[in-house]
Amino acid sequence: MKKKLIILLTLILVFTLAACAPSEEKPAEAPPQETTEEVTEDTPSESSDDLEKEFTLEELAKFNGKDGNKAYVAVDGYVYDVTDVPPWNGGEHNGYEAGKDLSEEIKTKSPHGPGKLEGVPIVGKLVE
Ligand code: HEM
Repeated sequence: MKKKLIILLTLILVFTLAACAPSEEKPAEAPPQETTEEVTEDTPSESSDDLEKEFTLEELAKFNGKDGNKAYVAVDGYVYDVTDVPPWNGGEHNGYEAGKDLSEEIKTKSPHGPGKLEGVPIVGKLVE
């Protein structure tokens, strides 16, 4: 009888220990990796969300930086938000107006060229 009791107690002890043992630790799940798009000179950095926005020239015209509208300019198919770019205050810059495709003008008329667009946020693409 005593032997049975010892076996029973041992079994209870084993099960209790097994139940309390810490479960196998899972390695912390790595945060979802952001897709690292290759940035080349021709494709300025932008998030894929931004590129989903498409502007026709007509839609772009609304963003002339006037009457509370944002100031956007298109260059080489990309639409840039120049609202917070000081030289573009009020949607105007050295005789040029926002809300337009200024691809040719920035290359042929400006002394600085498209390099000035580096760091300017892209808000979408220009479509026909
Ligand atoms: C998008 C089309 C653009 C056009 C057509 C354009 C055109 C011009 C022109 C014609 C000038 C010379 C003004 C003068 O003779 O005194 C100029 C100067 C200047 N622009 Fe632009 N610009 C453009 C975009 C930008 C952007 C996006 C920025 C800033 C982010 C910028 C910043 C400046 C600055 C700081 C100057 C002063 C002189 C210099 O740095 O060369 N421009 N721009």
